[in-house]
Amino acid sequence: MTSKHTQTGHPDTHLDVAPNEVEELEEGSVQSGAHGRIYRDVTPEQAAVEQTLVDAVVASFDACEDPRLKEVMVSLVKHMHSFIREVRLTEKEWGTAIEFLTAAGHITDDVRQEFILLSDTLGASMQTINVNNLAYKGATEATVFGPFFVEDAPEIANGEDMAFGAPGEPCWVEGTVTDTDGKPLAGARIEVWEADEDGLYDVQYDAGKRAARAHLFTDENGEYRFWGLTPTPYPIPHDGPVGKMLSAVGRSPLRASHLHFMVSHEGCRTLVTHIFPTGDPIGKADTVFGIKDSLIKDFPRQPAGTPTPNGREVDGTWSRVRFDIVLAPSGV
Ligand code: BEZ
Ligand code: FE
Repeated sequence: MTSKHTQTGHPDTHLDVAPNEVEELEEGSVQSGAHGRIYRDVTPEQAAVEQTLVDAVVASFDACEDPRLKEVMVSLVKHMHSFIREVRLTEKEWGTAIEFLTAAGHITDDVRQEFILLSDTLGASMQTINVNNLAYKGATEATVFGPFFVEDAPEIANGEDMAFGAPGEPCWVEGTVTDTDGKPLAGARIEVWEADEDGLYDVQYDAGKRAARAHLFTDENGEYRFWGLTPTPYPIPHDGPVGKMLSAVGRSPLRASHLHFMVSHEGCRTLVTHIFPTGDPIGKADTVFGIKDSLIKDFPRQPAGTPTPNGREVDGTWSRVRFDIVLAPSGV
């Protein structure tokens, strides 16, 4: 077997075959298409039929006047046809995929977004974040947004409690917001939201409920502080098609424990991120691939009776965490 043949089925094989040219490699294996992919168990005649269709669909975008739309559609079609050809997708499997997407549409409404869950669990959300948030000096890394942010979270002053009665162990959260030169950013807007100790967001109880979420602003020194809840692991909603997919492939629906942040300031790239406690019981097996090492923070537990930073009386244990946030300039 030649080295070409060991690449059989590899999607990134680059062998410079022009569109609609088909090269026979060995019995039952052809190299075909603009990306030079190799398809198994296909005669050159069959590969030519398949490639002719790809070329026709690609050409159907020739008159598109929006160059970016054209680029995206042409690439989407080429990759989708390559996928269908590479796995030799059956009509039954394509039907199952259509049924799956239909079910995802039916379960989606204003508060349940199955397509975000699908994008998240297939790593598409995280990859889009990687592509759009390039590392810049010491800027804090971004991670998934998730489906549970709401626009109208209440404002709290520094030092106040964002739990609003949601159950869970109190957690003191503090830190600074600076630019990549270390300059403190006063007035940065910080949105925070998290699940309660039962693994549920407020909106999962009732679309109008607001708890365990708030927004606040950094003070004149670029500092912020608030009470939240010690994060705990929870499953993403898994009573729909995405849950069935996870169970069919033997995957857990659990997300690693986390606290969400969205931080914005004029002249800076808005940061969407989380922090994850060290030593989480589910380790790094986050079902939406959101964990980055730089976002894992110590949340030391404080024994009952330990005085709190702002004099709040807490019954039982509480935890604390420091998260210093660095914003990249906008446009990088
Ligand atoms: C979340 O962290 O809130 C989340 C992210 C992705 C999918 C489901 C939930
Ligand atoms: Fe979350």
